[in-house]
Amino acid sequence: MSEDIDDSAYDLETELLIEALYQKFHYDFRHYARSSVKRRLQHALSRFHCPTISHIQARLLHENGFLQELIDVITVPTTEMFRDPTYYAALRTEVLPVLKTYPSLKIWIAGTSTGEEVVSFCILLKEEGLLEKTVIYATDINQRVLDQASRGIYDTETIKRATLNYRESGGKGMISDYVSVAYGSARVDPNLLKNVVFSSHSLATDAVFGEMHLVSCRNVMIYFDRPLQNRATALFRDSLVRGGFLGLGSRESMRFLDTAPAFKALNESQRLYQKL
Ligand SMILES: C[S@@+](CC[C@H](N)C(=O)[O-])C[C@H]1O[C@@H](n2cnc3c(N)ncnc32)[C@H](O)[C@@H]1O
Repeated sequence: MSEDIDDSAYDLETELLIEALYQKFHYDFRHYARSSVKRRLQHALSRFHCPTISHIQARLLHENGFLQELIDVITVPTTEMFRDPTYYAALRTEVLPVLKTYPSLKIWIAGTSTGEEVVSFCILLKEEGLLEKTVIYATDINQRVLDQASRGIYDTETIKRATLNYRESGGKGMISDYVSVAYGSARVDPNLLKNVVFSSHSLATDAVFGEMHLVSCRNVMIYFDRPLQNRATALFRDSLVRGGFLGLGSRESMRFLDTAPAFKALNESQRLYQKL
């Protein structure tokens, strides 16, 4: 019995916190998969040494700077360079040959986190001779990860891990061609990132902002419920030119979404789609 009371109190506190984040700060987690939000909030309880979610809510409403700390815990920044190398191999062989026919390109990387996906795209585009004519819009809801991404500085472990992925993705050179290591950290060549615009944008609340040839949104929609997945993919559909490409994460798919009829599968196993 007492467990039921605790569970229902916990559920209610979770809903109230989500509502507070939305009403006071316009961060909209109302359509995130509850299981994932609850796991993150469990983590928040121990991280902030709070006995209940209501204590977290009090800090959120009354303590300067706490919002960013909470956003850091609720959003999941996990990423790596050339994550799922076969995705990048498929981009290289199936998508970039078509993109080469356009005089200029716009690419949107939604949910970019700390920028490893952006760096991977920039390397790929450079090796295929497309970087100079491309603008990349790299967006996220978490300003802290965007700031980190725009600095282009990573620890050397990140680069070590990237080396194998890069080779498996069909990389034509060496990661060290693009990154210089000094004093224990690695700096991405600033020229590589010069056509990247980093900006805050939420797939839950914001609108389309440009006409894209390719959208890559990987490992973001796994945290969304079906209505929010429909919203996000409608933004991708509306922002893509006809024949534009959409890439999703390995555990995501267009199947069963309301927006599926607007796309054909180019390579379902690599989660690559093309707008009809
Ligand atoms: C797991 S990371 C994925 C990073 C990268 N795309 C990858 O696949 O390696 C998920 C990112 O999505 C961002 N995110 C979560 N909700 C979002 C939303 N509503 N709009 C845009 N980005 C969001 C998070 O802040 C986080 O940086």
